[in-house]
Amino acid sequence: MKCKTCAAKAVIETRRHNAAFCTGCFCTHVERQVQKTVDTEKMLSKDDRILVAVSGGKDSFTLWEALHRLGYSTTGYHIVLGIGDYSPLAREKVEAYAKGQGLPLIITDLKEEYDFGIPELALHTPRVPCSACGLSKRYVMNRTALEEGFTVLATGHNLDDAASTLLGNLLHWQTEQLGRMRPAMEATHAKLVKTVKPLIRLTERETLAYTMLRGIDYHEDECPNAVGATSLLYKDILNQLEHASPGVKQSFYLGFLKKGRTAFAAHSDGITLKECEVCGQATTTETCAFCRMMEQARRRAASRNP
Ligand code: AMP
Ligand code: FES
Ligand code: ZN
Repeated sequence: MKCKTCAAKAVIETRRHNAAFCTGCFCTHVERQVQKTVDTEKMLSKDDRILVAVSGGKDSFTLWEALHRLGYSTTGYHIVLGIGDYSPLAREKVEAYAKGQGLPLIITDLKEEYDFGIPELALHTPRVPCSACGLSKRYVMNRTALEEGFTVLATGHNLDDAASTLLGNLLHWQTEQLGRMRPAMEATHAKLVKTVKPLIRLTERETLAYTMLRGIDYHEDECPNAVGATSLLYKDILNQLEHASPGVKQSFYLGFLKKGRTAFAAHSDGITLKECEVCGQATTTETCAFCRMMEQARRRAASRNP
């Protein structure tokens, strides 16, 4: 098998592009896909100060590396979730990468700064770990980006993530969520930062290959709380479809962005945001969901350990 671009020996085949690439041409192909997404969706400019959310996994390292190589001004952002052996290793990988590349990195340790890590939040509130985690990550990412003066927050969601979220939202006709499914979300309130997902044209297999071919030491383990998640079932089903019909995952999601999303846009309109009476962050209720969760955790923890 020969590289489609330079005819050298290919190391990876991408069936949906009907192509194979050598190491160098594959990495260039990945970076071009990121640039194409950034341009098509008007995600970033070279003047933006970009906070890149980095978990230590293959996707967010692909994002950070590609944006940096494409000449964008990036700072990494890692949230220490306090999950068993998983979180310390994630932090180690992110710190080692930032140091090796000489790139700035900001870290928020949930337990140090907010008194509770994810396991404690799951213990002291009715939320399951992934729900407490998703809410905490969204909150601290937005808050840190604003407080530190960043203009955009970038996350490493890939095509598999986006297509499985779309499938889940369609299966349950979550019209409001479908209306909000935009890979670039402009800030609609002074306390919200613009968010972008520049990897939505890349599959998990491609971000994994890019990370390995660029020689990045990433955290191989999935979060232990993800086992059995519905999103993994949807990803599996979409991969079966992709195997039978290469390109179907991309046409499902990119087709939605092109032809479907406007149909649902009105369902997410008319949401009035105000500032949380406790922390001042944007919310639809008097007190934001994060502050309510923290208050509940504090009360339950105090009653259990008086
Ligand atoms: P997930 O929600 O775990 O699928 O992760 C989606 C994206 O959120 C990743 O690609 C990262 O950009 C970001 N992210 C997840 N976990 C963390 C973390 N602990 N610290 C910073 N960013 C994260
Ligand atoms: Fe948040 Fe797994 S990464 S619970
Ligand atoms: Zn709040």
